[in-house]
Amino acid sequence: MYRQRLLWSITLLPVSNLAFEAIDRQSVVRRFNLRQNESHFYSPMQVGNGNFAFGADITGLQTFVPHNTLSSWGWHNSTLPSTPNQTSITDFTGLDWWTHGRLVNYAQPNPAEKDISQWMISNPHRINLGRIGLWFGEQNVTELMLSERSQSLDLWEGIISSSFSLYGENVCIETMVDPTSDTIAVEIRSELLSNSSLGVFFDFPYASGKNKFDAPFVGVWNATSNHSTLIERRDRGAIVKHILQTTVYYADIAWESDAVIEDPKNGTHQYTLKPGNNVKELRFTVTFSPEPPKLNPQTFIYTKRKTRAWWQDYWESGAFISLPQKNSSAQELQRRIILSQYLLAVNGAGKDPAQESGLVNNGWYGKFHMEMVFWHLAHWTLWNKWSLYGRSIGIYDRFLSTSFERAKRQGYQGARIGKMSDPTGRSAPGEINSLLIWQQPHPMYFAEMEYRKFPKEETLKKWDHILKGVADFMASYAWFNESTNVYDLGPPMYPVSENTSPNQTVNPTFELAYWRFGLGVAEQWQLRQGKSIPSNWRFVKENLAPFPVENGVYVLYEGVKNMWTTPTLSEDHPGLLGIYGWLPPDSRLNLTIFNATIQKVYESWNFTYSYGWDFPLLAITAARLGDAEKAVSWLLDSNNQFDELGMPIGGARVPTPYFPASAGLLLAVGMMAGGWDGLEGPIFPEEWHVEVEAFGKAM
Ligand SMILES: *[C@@H]1O[C@H](CO)[C@@H](O)[C@H](O)[C@H]1NC(C)=O
Ligand SMILES: *[C@@H]1O[C@H](CO)[C@@H](O)[C@H](O)[C@H]1NC(C)=O
Ligand SMILES: *[C@@H]1O[C@H](CO)[C@@H](O)[C@H](O)[C@H]1NC(C)=O
Ligand SMILES: *[C@@H]1O[C@H](CO)[C@@H](O)[C@H](O)[C@H]1NC(C)=O
Ligand SMILES: *[C@@H]1O[C@H](CO)[C@@H](O)[C@H](O)[C@H]1NC(C)=O
Ligand SMILES: *[C@@H]1O[C@H](CO)[C@@H](O)[C@H](O)[C@H]1NC(C)=O
Ligand SMILES: *[C@@H]1O[C@H](CO)[C@@H](O)[C@H](O)[C@H]1NC(C)=O
Ligand SMILES: *[C@@H]1O[C@H](CO)[C@@H](O)[C@H](O)[C@H]1NC(C)=O
Ligand SMILES: *[C@@H]1O[C@H](CO)[C@@H](O)[C@H](O)[C@H]1NC(C)=O
Ligand SMILES: *[C@@H]1O[C@H](CO)[C@@H](O)[C@H](O)[C@H]1NC(C)=O
Ligand SMILES: *[C@@H]1O[C@H](CO)[C@@H](O)[C@H](O)[C@H]1NC(C)=O
Ligand SMILES: *[C@@H]1O[C@H](CO)[C@@H](O)[C@H](O)[C@H]1NC(C)=O
Repeated sequence: MYRQRLLWSITLLPVSNLAFEAIDRQSVVRRFNLRQNESHFYSPMQVGNGNFAFGADITGLQTFVPHNTLSSWGWHNSTLPSTPNQTSITDFTGLDWWTHGRLVNYAQPNPAEKDISQWMISNPHRINLGRIGLWFGEQNVTELMLSERSQSLDLWEGIISSSFSLYGENVCIETMVDPTSDTIAVEIRSELLSNSSLGVFFDFPYASGKNKFDAPFVGVWNATSNHSTLIERRDRGAIVKHILQTTVYYADIAWESDAVIEDPKNGTHQYTLKPGNNVKELRFTVTFSPEPPKLNPQTFIYTKRKTRAWWQDYWESGAFISLPQKNSSAQELQRRIILSQYLLAVNGAGKDPAQESGLVNNGWYGKFHMEMVFWHLAHWTLWNKWSLYGRSIGIYDRFLSTSFERAKRQGYQGARIGKMSDPTGRSAPGEINSLLIWQQPHPMYFAEMEYRKFPKEETLKKWDHILKGVADFMASYAWFNESTNVYDLGPPMYPVSENTSPNQTVNPTFELAYWRFGLGVAEQWQLRQGKSIPSNWRFVKENLAPFPVENGVYVLYEGVKNMWTTPTLSEDHPGLLGIYGWLPPDSRLNLTIFNATIQKVYESWNFTYSYGWDFPLLAITAARLGDAEKAVSWLLDSNNQFDELGMPIGGARVPTPYFPASAGLLLAVGMMAGGWDGLEGPIFPEEWHVEVEAFGKAM
């Protein structure tokens, strides 16, 4: 039985006639509050605000385990190489590859420019802003010496409460992050504060950019002479300035009881806050910022009030789904949904699109990927969380000028969106980075979702120049093949699954469908504004190569050999299933062939090697075919795991967490809850009693 809640009908009905009660969101959310009694070495318990996050161990701080403090703005460049002719990024020339009879320059590592190529890949890298932990006087205290350890994260309020006992005295700690500034607020209550047995340390690491994956811990703690810290004291506070070459930022520490902060010893960068006699409660805040602090730092209580209000509003606004409590599969799915909602507000709602490991640790040097923007952001649109989506969707506008330059340098029209990016819009050198194309139509998808929700002039204006630039590139990228009389995509190129030989890859099924979808939206955009459609867009769209079919099934790309029996070709992302599910059906889609394709994928794919968003993709496709049981079973597939803290496990190929799995889960659940054009949601197994509120509808 399904109940679609019609919130807007409430105002039309007298209160006593309310047909439905709203879901008790608070009790559903709090059912999944995190609890633990020992530090999780790999996954932190996290608090954060989308642009800033703090990973905590069992003490609610970073006492025993150096979990990270990461932000949207904290980045560092290593010194440029001193190799002759490789001392500046303008010395990087990339590689020229033959592309339909002409040499096109691609930003790929050039063996003759090894040092500057590598520098451009690993710089800038995201930095760990600092570590905050308990100081136990001169004693060496280990976690095992703490008794009665207990910790919980109240998801409804965004607050971690930790407690334990040491020397027979209780210690209680609350930890939270301000929703609108990069401030962590902490309260410690204990008798131990009053006799020099308990205080707080603040430490600051160096950043090297040496590791592509810096997980679970980010930063270098023993290169103390490569960077410096300075402290400026004031009444009940101090500002620590941290200098790592050209990166400079501040930690504004403010405490609310009698205490002194001591300088580091032995050339380290570890400062110690020691409470005065009789202090039994120590509250403090630390605000990290790239600019010297101007305002008075905010108090613990003020931060706590803001934090609780923000999280409560987060849970109460937008969509919500409640799954049956008595069904264990449904409860596991509910757990993943709630924890994903929490973790994506902390890690996937910043000013830039999220990095795959969010603000937990560093993947790919902390850089974010433009092809992944779809998976990171699309779910917000269905869950009606437009303000969080709005924080980073401006990236297409911000990066438009570098996108135009990229296309121009390669002799194309329009704007070519990059790949592995830092906040300036530079795309890191890489063979795959420079040859992937499925990021191009993403802005069309987002623009269309926005227009469905906000069918206004303003929306048309907001996206017009972006869609035009990107569509111009897409049309100009397609190459007219005179022997077949159709437009080809590639070669050279990499498809979604990144597992083919780029000089052989032409007309991959998913990209053909997505190109047609994107150009279709761009055409609509013109018509809605009363403008004419550029004839080349339409011509390319109508004359793109047909979806490649072999033996009655769609295949990865045109002419692929032995796809179903070559292990490396029938693993990784099963992107071709995206043409029915992720994308609305193309007029060229043949469902008989598609049905045969999905059977073939089910039979032949190596799902043990699938990860991340593959399972949500499979779920969406199954749901689009009306198979709710299968959809749910993909979301709970044994290769698709979320740990006890809700972190999506990366698996063999990428470190944990791998947030596209969380964001993809919410996208799939959002589509299954809200339905899509031509089908009302919810689409869940028949015996599940599902309650949904306020979901948008997918295309
Ligand atoms: C910690 O929690 C686990 C699981 O709830 C339990 O088995 C274990 O005994 C607890 N350990 C301590 C030291 O309380
Ligand atoms: C790193 O260097 C690049 C190239 O000079 C520059 O564009 C970027 O702003 C720098 N980033 C940081 C964080 O210093
Ligand atoms: C650097 O460039 C200069 C001038 O282009 C050239 O003469 C020289 O051989 C180059 N040096 C190296 C080490 O490649
Ligand atoms: C693709 O072709 C280019 C020449 O256009 C060549 O330099 C490159 O090595 C080839 N790439 C692969 C992966 O074969
Ligand atoms: C604390 O431990 C360190 C290293 O583990 C050791 O060098 C030091 O002597 C210990 N200090 C005390 C007071 O036990
Ligand atoms: C502080 O008090 C606790 C118990 O209240 C005691 O165990 C500890 O030794 C004291 N520490 C100092 C430095 O006096
Ligand atoms: C710093 O620590 C790393 C890893 O723990 C170690 O490999 C390296 O040798 C240390 N460097 C110094 C200068 O002690
Ligand atoms: C610290 O600086 C020294 C001297 O410049 C350098 O050799 C070392 O590699 C640096 N350490 C790190 C972690 O970058
Ligand atoms: C600090 O350095 C001094 C002198 O070099 C040494 O005696 C002391 O043990 C060091 N302390 C720590 C905590 O490393
Ligand atoms: C779909 O493909 C099947 C199998 O190749 C074919 O028999 C059928 O005619 C196609 N349907 C359409 C509408 O083209
Ligand atoms: C494809 O499969 C779906 C679900 O199994 C079924 O409803 C549909 O009729 C099939 N379509 C064709 C054309 O075979
Ligand atoms: C499937 O992928 C796994 C890696 O996760 C690999 O070990 C295994 O050999 C693959 N199986 C086949 C049939 O290729």
